[in-house]
Amino acid sequence: MNIFFYATYSNREEFLATLRKKFKHDKIYTIKDKNDLSKIDVAMVWNLPNDIFKKMVNLKAIFSIGAGVDHILRLSNVKNLPIVRVKDPTMRIRMYNHVLSQILIFQLKLKVFDEAQRKKIWMNERYTPLNNELTIGIMGLGYIGNFVALKIKKLGYQVVAYKRNNLSKNTTFEIFDKSSLNKFIKKSDVIVSILPDTKNTKNFINTKFLKKMKKTSLLVNIGRGSAVNELDLINHMKYNTNFYASLDVFNKEPLEKKHKFWVNKNITITPHVAAITDHDSSISYLYKRFMDFKKNKKIKSDVDIKLGY
Ligand code: OXD
Repeated sequence: MNIFFYATYSNREEFLATLRKKFKHDKIYTIKDKNDLSKIDVAMVWNLPNDIFKKMVNLKAIFSIGAGVDHILRLSNVKNLPIVRVKDPTMRIRMYNHVLSQILIFQLKLKVFDEAQRKKIWMNERYTPLNNELTIGIMGLGYIGNFVALKIKKLGYQVVAYKRNNLSKNTTFEIFDKSSLNKFIKKSDVIVSILPDTKNTKNFINTKFLKKMKKTSLLVNIGRGSAVNELDLINHMKYNTNFYASLDVFNKEPLEKKHKFWVNKNITITPHVAAITDHDSSISYLYKRFMDFKKNKKIKSDVDIKLGY
């Protein structure tokens, strides 16, 4: 099978070298090869431009080399193609580590002490809640969200979750849906968004949503930047000085130098690194799915086009 690789990752050459080593029996082309794109069977991509995609008229499947598939769903006429996304166990462990670190910073008031340190202020001690006194609300209960929720619960936190259409019954934590979103928001001390980028999640976290959050609370966004209305968040934080946000994803990445987020002392910014793509582990996953496809001549799509994830 002919594979085409395209990525906008800064370390894409390294990724490609590891990919070629693993897929040693299949030819992997890139744009530099200037080959006939109609001969490509499988594309493994991150942010593939539409004009290149359109030339792959005989494509049989498209693999996202990351967890998200929004970059693929933006391509024209992708509807009938099976889409594979990386489900890498190391990615969810990293996501969990990241979320836990942000909960602890909030819980132990470390931002407050950090600010005091910079001003050489020896602060009085403050009450810090125990794990069971905090409710962590997880939005988006997919491969990553479910794992994060279960791990956090094991540490003794109260955990609730939000899922647009909640069909599950026997779960270890309470799940809220569209009709009970307000309850979910009001209950949570920390809200972690792992929402994908779809038409339903755009600006989901807006003024209306933020106003329902507790005055002292933390919003963590590790899903997609589009889920947060950035202007609404800035405005909300002007009037709520005990409100914190930890943002790993943004509407426009890299975050522009002039963006107000940079200078807000209650905002933690990480540059889309909550879970880096682990080359070995994600390539092993892609390889397994590819080999199954080669053997069985069919592949099940990981994505419901109508839902957009
Ligand atoms: C993502 C990724 O989907 O980094 O954001 O894999």
